[in-house]
Amino acid sequence: RSAANTAPAEREQWTGQTGFILAAIGSAVGLGNIWRFPGVAYENGGGAFLIPYLIALLTAGIPILFLDYSVGHRFRGTAPLAYRRIHPRAELLGWFQILLSFVIAVYYAAVIAWAGSYFVFSFGLQWGDDPQGFFLGEYLQVGEPTISTTLVSAVALPLVLTWAVILIVLALGVAKGVEKANFIGLPLLVLAFLALVVRAITLPGATDGLDALFTPNWGALTDPEVWIAAYAQIFFSLSIAFGIMVTYSSYRKRKSNMTSPGLVVAFANSSFEVLAGIGVFSALGFLAHQQGVGIADIEGLTGPILSFVTFPAVISQMPGGSLFGALFFGCLVVAGFTSIISILQGVSGSVQEKFGLGIRQSAVTVSAICAVISIALFSTTSGLLALDTVDQWANNIGVVTSAILMTLLLVWVLRRGEELRFHLNAVSTFQIGRWWNFLIGVVGPVFLAYMLIQKVVSLLT
Ligand code: PFF
Repeated sequence: RSAANTAPAEREQWTGQTGFILAAIGSAVGLGNIWRFPGVAYENGGGAFLIPYLIALLTAGIPILFLDYSVGHRFRGTAPLAYRRIHPRAELLGWFQILLSFVIAVYYAAVIAWAGSYFVFSFGLQWGDDPQGFFLGEYLQVGEPTISTTLVSAVALPLVLTWAVILIVLALGVAKGVEKANFIGLPLLVLAFLALVVRAITLPGATDGLDALFTPNWGALTDPEVWIAAYAQIFFSLSIAFGIMVTYSSYRKRKSNMTSPGLVVAFANSSFEVLAGIGVFSALGFLAHQQGVGIADIEGLTGPILSFVTFPAVISQMPGGSLFGALFFGCLVVAGFTSIISILQGVSGSVQEKFGLGIRQSAVTVSAICAVISIALFSTTSGLLALDTVDQWANNIGVVTSAILMTLLLVWVLRRGEELRFHLNAVSTFQIGRWWNFLIGVVGPVFLAYMLIQKVVSLLT
């Protein structure tokens, strides 16, 4: 009997609906919400960006989230196994999604490790007067030809720690590990983040930041790049088309409401995103106010530079900045953890099913391989370049390709759209109509294909 065709007799399960919802929100709410959304929204039309963002959520985000759920829940497997059960050759799509997850995990871990270091640095404002010089020069040693002691001590050690925690959580299994981690992490994150946002909006200059973020630039709506940014943000942020949500929904009991929790997850994620926008831009408004410049003059509004250069500047300027810094980097760590655990659970669960391994065996194997790669990469080079390239290819091109393949394959090639819709409706309270087939079969693929072409062209020219 081939292990690939059979799930273990007792499939691991969430303890209940709340466990699933918390874990799914934990996966969705991550670095993407805190360091990606605010800057992306600002650069792509400000308040006006909310329109393409909402349209992307409703026409692709939620429908494809439901598609992920339906595949995992009906075919009861991680992405490769679930797709294999639909059609033997579709297994490849599952592995493609696992590959994307794997690549993302390698750099996501590095960011968590950096945030861990910066959590500690916050207490002594260790970056001094020159956060940029500190981050790029002293901390990451960009441009240094040799392996530096700083990288080994300040990056490799936190990385090892990060991977150790991930390994422990995975090895404990779905209910005792992943679910518990989210049960603790998510409430902690929400409370800490609320405190952060309240402090940020009461800073002088905060309203200028909010004006900058929310003032709509309607002209942006005619720019295809803005729409692409909205769809890309939704995909990454909801963790869809990575096989992760297929995996998570495969651990739900057979008779489980799927659609309503999906709506809860999607709206919780977007709410957190807007909240993060408010927090981050209030803080940026404060920085601009302190420096007597406009928001437009501040560089580094997204990604690593926002978190490790711009925010340290904010923290240094603020009375009681250390606490604010610890809250900010603590939130990055926790939000990052609950997301990377979902990614690794997808990878580890797939390896487990494919090779008939035990939970611990596959947790150790997968975490060890991933850990070695991420430690080797990020403690010998700054990894910043890799991070940027990976973000372009895996996040934009890879995941959009995955979503196109997924929708075309399920709806048009294998014609499983109706079956999957009936399945969701049979177990759920919120019923989905035929509009869903239209969205995943026509609107989604057309839009995504257009995006993909635009993106590839812009990367190659
Ligand atoms: N959704 C996470 C974020 O917004 O940071 C990132 C992520 C998690 C992407 C899980 C993909 C994934 F499978």
